[in-house]
Amino acid sequence: MRITTPQNDISEVLLSEEQIKQRVKELAKTITEDYKDKMPIVVCVLKGSSFFFVDLCKDIECHINLDFMAVSSYGSSSISSGEIKIKKDLEQDIKGRDVLIVEDIIDSGHTLKKLIALLDERKPKSIKTICLLDKVARRVVDQYADYVGFEIPDEFVVGYGLDFAEYYRNLPYIGILKPEVYE
Ligand code: PRP
Repeated sequence: MRITTPQNDISEVLLSEEQIKQRVKELAKTITEDYKDKMPIVVCVLKGSSFFFVDLCKDIECHINLDFMAVSSYGSSSISSGEIKIKKDLEQDIKGRDVLIVEDIIDSGHTLKKLIALLDERKPKSIKTICLLDKVARRVVDQYADYVGFEIPDEFVVGYGLDFAEYYRNLPYIGILKPEVYE
């Protein structure tokens, strides 16, 4: 691997730290209002949503439980298939509970659709989804998030939790990766 900095591989900052912070505050306000009497379980889908999850939860002002899950798609690494495998399961029983799934990005929609179906079998009271980024142009299945931070163009974005080959997650903003890095 070339020795460089993650910042050097970004062609454009798509969403700055300030823009993300502001939008996360707005989303948290809406979640606080919608869930004020529900004591929901807020689920972080590792690893991409970790930064968003932490910032969002800190801004939510009602009682919530936190839990963590890791799933992986079968098939090609760049195009998600229709199957997911649980790599790390929730610790809490979601039966009869209001569940809010936190995702960093919805792309084809396969992951979210399968994840909702999987968790729905455990008989929660409700399941809703919040995604920081929505790449609408890439949608393959009819799946949308209940709450969306930003609709973004079909560009290779990294940072604020999103990776390329497990790098760039630690960038504090969301940037477009230079094509020469991944081509
Ligand atoms: C990313 C992202 C979503 C999924 C979205 O996860 O966090 O879970 O892909 O793609 P889809 O809508 O096409 O299914 P990834 O598998 O890259 O894992 P990560 O969160 O650990 O980066």
